[in-house]
Amino acid sequence: MTIVPMTERHVPALVELEAVCFPHPWTAAGFAEELHNPLAVFLVAEQDGAVAGYMGFHDVVGEGFVTNVAVFPAFRRQGVAAALISAAQAICRERGIARLALEVRESNAAAIALYERFGFRQDGRRPRFYTAPAEDALLYSWENQNLPL
Ligand SMILES: CC(C)(COP(=O)(O)OP(=O)(O)OC[C@H]1O[C@@H](n2cnc3c(N)ncnc32)[C@H](O)[C@@H]1OP(=O)(O)O)[C@@H](O)C(=O)NCCC(=O)NCCS
Repeated sequence: MTIVPMTERHVPALVELEAVCFPHPWTAAGFAEELHNPLAVFLVAEQDGAVAGYMGFHDVVGEGFVTNVAVFPAFRRQGVAAALISAAQAICRERGIARLALEVRESNAAAIALYERFGFRQDGRRPRFYTAPAEDALLYSWENQNLPL
């Protein structure tokens, strides 16, 4: 598996992946916008040339806000999301990004287990943040301990 920056060629597979995973999936236009967004850091996991998963975040003056993490069902529990999060954390260390923050549905045990394994800690809750179905968001963040002086 390799982790590469998102390019235009990934967009059709990412649209399909979003539709498989989320009730309000991102569209091709949404991804196309990120290709030209200087704040966007979007990473794609490829397995034998196929898109296995992706993760995106926005670097907003040294703080990273994760937009999504998603892996195709056929590639789950094979370390794809782990590789994406490790790569994002390595980019944070290289660029001096202080933290990564995200929201997750409180029923999403798989994602919560993943984030906690990678050092994310819960630091808030947004009541009824999600719709379809309505649900609280738990706020998680990871602090970069390797910031340059
Ligand atoms: C959550 C998700 C991204 C995990 O992707 P993945 O590639 O299967 O995760 P990994 O194989 O890298 O798992 C890394 C660790 O996360 C945890 N984890 C992942 N899936 C899990 C599950 N179903 N149940 C419990 N723990 C899980 C485990 O600690 C796992 O390590 P292990 O396999 O050695 O036990 C994937 O299930 C997914 O795409 N879900 C739908 C979209 C989604 O909910 N995204 C998150 C939105 S906030």
